[in-house]
Order: sequence, then C-alpha cells, then structure tokens
Amino acid sequence: MRCCEILIIGGGIIGLAIAIELKAQGAAVTILCRDFAEAATHAAAGMIAPQAEELPPSPMLDLCLESRALYPDWIHKLESLTGLNAGYWACGILTPRYRYSEKPGWLDRASILTHQPDLSDEVIGGYWFPQDAQVDNRALAKVLWMAAQELGIEIHTGIQVDAFGTGKPARFKSDSNITHLETNQGIWKADRYILATGAWSQELLPIPVFPRKGQMLAVRVLDHDLPLKQVLYGEESYIVPRRDGRIIVGATSENVGFQAGNTAIGVHQLLSAAIRLYPPIQHFTLEETWYGFRPTTPDELPILGSSPYANLTLATGHYRNGILLAPVTASAIAQFVLTEKTDPRLEAFHWSRFNLGT
Ligand code: GLY
Repeated sequence: MRCCEILIIGGGIIGLAIAIELKAQGAAVTILCRDFAEAATHAAAGMIAPQAEELPPSPMLDLCLESRALYPDWIHKLESLTGLNAGYWACGILTPRYRYSEKPGWLDRASILTHQPDLSDEVIGGYWFPQDAQVDNRALAKVLWMAAQELGIEIHTGIQVDAFGTGKPARFKSDSNITHLETNQGIWKADRYILATGAWSQELLPIPVFPRKGQMLAVRVLDHDLPLKQVLYGEESYIVPRRDGRIIVGATSENVGFQAGNTAIGVHQLLSAAIRLYPPIQHFTLEETWYGFRPTTPDELPILGSSPYANLTLATGHYRNGILLAPVTASAIAQFVLTEKTDPRLEAFHWSRFNLGT
C-alpha cells in the first residue's frame, strides 16, 4: 500500500497543471497516470480561443478570458523552470465567414484579406481576435511533464485506477470519504484526491462526462516562407499554423464513444473544409492524421470543485477548452484544495447542476 498527501488521478494537461500549482505552494503531490499518450492534451490543436469559439457572455466566458490572460506568465514560469519551449504564440485568430453575421466587430472581405491573403472567394467577411492565441499543446505537455519532475512531483504511469474505496457501499453520498484507490498496482491511499481523468471520468464516478471524438490532421509547408501567420477559425474547420511550417487542421466532432482510428470520411471532411477556406492548403504535404476524445458534459461546461465525497475534488469535463482552461483550473483548484474555501469562480461548474439521482 502507498500513502500520499494529495493524489491526482490523471496525467493530462489538467492533472499536471494542478499538480505543479499545488507543489509550488508547498503540498506533496503524486500523479497516477494510466497512459500519458491517450490524453486529449496531445490530440488538441492548442488554440487559446475564447473569442473565436464564440462563447456567450457567461461564467464560462469569464473563466476562459481569465485563463487566456494567465497564459503568458504561466508559460514563462514553466519555460524558465524547464529550459524548454512550449510554442506559445500570441498570433491572434481570424474567423473568416461565408455568411454575414450581425455580431459587433464584423469586418468586410477586404479587411479580412489584409490579415490573410489567398482566402476562399466565398469568404465575405469575418472577425479578427488579436488577443486569442495558440500554444503547441504537444510541446506544452512535455514542458509540464518536465516541470513536474523538476519540482519533485511523483508521477506513476501505467496505473489504472479501478475503483474508489469508500468504506461504504459504492454510492455517491455526501457524507462519505474516499478511503483508498484500488488499482492494477495495489492500494493507494491519500488525504485528498483530485479526479482529472477527462473523457474517462465515468469509469470511476457516475458523473456525466462523455467522449466526443475529434479527428485531426497536419500538413506541412514546403518553403520557409510561412504563408499563415495567425489561426484561421472557419465555419467548418480551423487551421492552426505552427512556426516550423506544420499546419494543424481540425476537427470533427463525433458521438461515437471511444471508437478508435481516423476514418476516410473524417479526413475527407477536414481536407475539403480546409481547402475550401484556404485553397493553398491543397499543395501542402499531408504529414499526419490522429484523433482524440474531448471530455464533454451535457451542458458542455467543465465540472470543477467539490464532489459528493468530502476529500475528492473534481477537475474534468473541459470539452473543447482544456488547453485554454489549464492555467485557471490549476490556480482555482489548487486554491480550493489548499484552503477548502469555496471559490466563486467555480460555482457555475459544480457537479450538482446535474441530476445524478443522489
Ligand atoms: N478546441 C477545438 C476543438 O475541440 O476542436
């Protein structure tokens, strides 16, 4: 049996970011990670896009804007700690449109083309969000992993948590404590537990977090002159240029459970939509296809904060915004775990908004 102070279940961007914040504030933290490679963290495009995602005015938009504002300092700290580059790029996001929108800020076609030449003849206008940005999510995952190791956070991989031990019948009851975790490598015990298992959260708790599959692909520009200098967020696809000539195209949104693999139709849809939006894509080299599983909830908002178990905190269900929300989730969850004070930022994201029959 292994005993710890705080045990985080899940080694994706959310689990790592929370662990680093807790450790930086003096807590002893251990992460149990089943498979680092399966996390949605790696599959994402890395957009930091609260405005381009068109989130309506809401606590969610506020949380996303706060997290976007935290990004530059958060990345700076992580890069200073590790000496690695996370590919943060305050490049702005352009949202070219085929249809007119009455939302404020509309730019006509000529203005959109000054930001990005060679767009589709069908683009009639759109919006420019200079504060939206991107990070190279795969590079960031490595930086977080290294930072966690630099800080002395224990990370155990290949550990499948099979069940929570509660010392009572396995019910979702407010007076219960988690007493231990049953894993494929024995019993683990901690004072506090944090669930950050994304799309797989239902394996451990009856909370409504479901996988929403996203297929992605990457092309590469052959010459050194980068044709794209900001993200293009179109009506049917988004195109995310990295500084090294790689260009990410995403993403499908499919309710197919954990069905693995890229499909011909998925890749076809992505390429058609990307070529329609930005025709030069057709000449670039196809480099990679992949897929991942967004952790989605019925209202598409994350589940953050206390749980029905007194010593279990929830940080899951980030859906399309896990990369964006990592810094603010880390800050708010660490503060909540260390002080046990309710954080007003988390109120709108409490699990009890769902009727779970408890
Ligand atoms: N954040 C973009 C996506 O989930 O496809």
